[in-house]
Amino acid sequence: MTAPKKLFIKTYGCQMNVYDSERMAEAMGGQGYVQTQTADDADMILLNTCHIREKAAEKVYSELGRYKGLKAAKPDLKIGVAGCVAQAEGEEIMRRQPMVDLVVGPQSYHRLPEMEAKTREGQKALDTDFPEEGKFDKLIARPKAARGPTAFLTVQEGCDKFCAFCVVPYTRGAEVSRPSDRVLTEARDLVERGVREITLLGQNVNAYHGHDGGLAGLIWALNDIDGLERIRFTTSHPNDMDDALIDAHGDCPKLMPYLHLPVQAGSDKILKRMNRSHTAESYLRVIERLRAVRPDIHLSGDFIVGFPEETEEDFQATLDLIRAVRYGSAYSFKYSTRPGTPAAERPQVSEAEKDDRLQRLQALLSQQQRQLQDEMVGREVNVLFEKPGRMPGQMVGKSEYLHSVHVTTDAAVGEMRRVRITASVTNSLAGELVGN
Ligand code: SAH
Ligand code: SF4
Ligand code: F3S
Repeated sequence: MTAPKKLFIKTYGCQMNVYDSERMAEAMGGQGYVQTQTADDADMILLNTCHIREKAAEKVYSELGRYKGLKAAKPDLKIGVAGCVAQAEGEEIMRRQPMVDLVVGPQSYHRLPEMEAKTREGQKALDTDFPEEGKFDKLIARPKAARGPTAFLTVQEGCDKFCAFCVVPYTRGAEVSRPSDRVLTEARDLVERGVREITLLGQNVNAYHGHDGGLAGLIWALNDIDGLERIRFTTSHPNDMDDALIDAHGDCPKLMPYLHLPVQAGSDKILKRMNRSHTAESYLRVIERLRAVRPDIHLSGDFIVGFPEETEEDFQATLDLIRAVRYGSAYSFKYSTRPGTPAAERPQVSEAEKDDRLQRLQALLSQQQRQLQDEMVGREVNVLFEKPGRMPGQMVGKSEYLHSVHVTTDAAVGEMRRVRITASVTNSLAGELVGN
């Protein structure tokens, strides 16, 4: 028997790329590849890339530059680029970095094994189609190996919203939902392999329509799976938060009280120019309805500062919205010009102004985040343990609200325990088992 070939995958970008990397590794398993954690001993290097901001794409090219020496020492080494940069740049990648053997867009992963075979014959392989056949139907069944207590599961892909700043509709294509029976089969399989918590993924996951009851219908169906303890989903668009989904946050026992609901900005003028098709007020109303059914829900958001033509007054409106919501966590970015998107053509805000606004925005967000975290002290939560902590006898897991919690316990990975929060430290909580 020949020794297995080694595959090194480096993943950038969003959780969907994490899921895709797993699926690609599994597909390459069928070609005799096992995964390795370093590029140095790999027979194939695959970068699963992100195109969302300028820096993300540049990182890919500098990373590729770093592999020159490896490729020179081992001419048989295959180098591939997958993900959203692959989709956006296509052949251009091979022109800029001729040592790249393979470029595969996010909708063509099921073709990766045959593409790899082509590179073994000394040819280049490029596929950035949006093929008719769905990749999920063609990807090989997932192997039965045991796995950790949490998993991502992609249920929806692509985006039809065309926010004026965003490349995702171009890199991931139109919105597609996987049929719920397939999703449920994959979920049951994950649970059999040890998974206790599933995060449903989609670029617009709450626009999911693979179930008659939409995303809420799928969540209720997942709620019936024995052994599955927790359900989360991300990322949602404010306009797709329908009544059934909001109600599920009040009624569905396994749906966790945490929601990532990006708003991007608080000024209606900017929201309009972003083509978000919601206002600050309509966003706040969604939050209000969520809090009415689930008062303790933790909210998280995405923000962009320095969108073209954003004034200080517009920026202040974003700060006001943040004060009105109180976020448990958040991601914030300086607007990054993406060629081919409408906002790239508009008058730009200076880099210095963007830096200044980002600093002020992040100061407010971290203050809120810390306050909400501190308010957890004295409360009881359920913690699903994910890994041992740094101190002996300690485990780390997540609360319902996605806080990391450190606990001294003999509980194993994958077990859930009732924990009283005793302290709030920089980025996590400490707690002790209840009833011990
Ligand atoms: N589908 C999701 C997430 C899309 S990308 C949504 O609708 O929210 C994740 C985040 O990246 C976005 O929410 C936005 O805040 C940020 N982002 C996207 N394009 C950007 C750009 N050109 N510049 C800066 N941030 C951007
Ligand atoms: Fe991008 Fe907007 Fe679609 Fe989100 S909803 S992926 S920000 S275009
Ligand atoms: Fe990046 Fe593509 Fe995800 S651009 S954020 S990897 S959808």
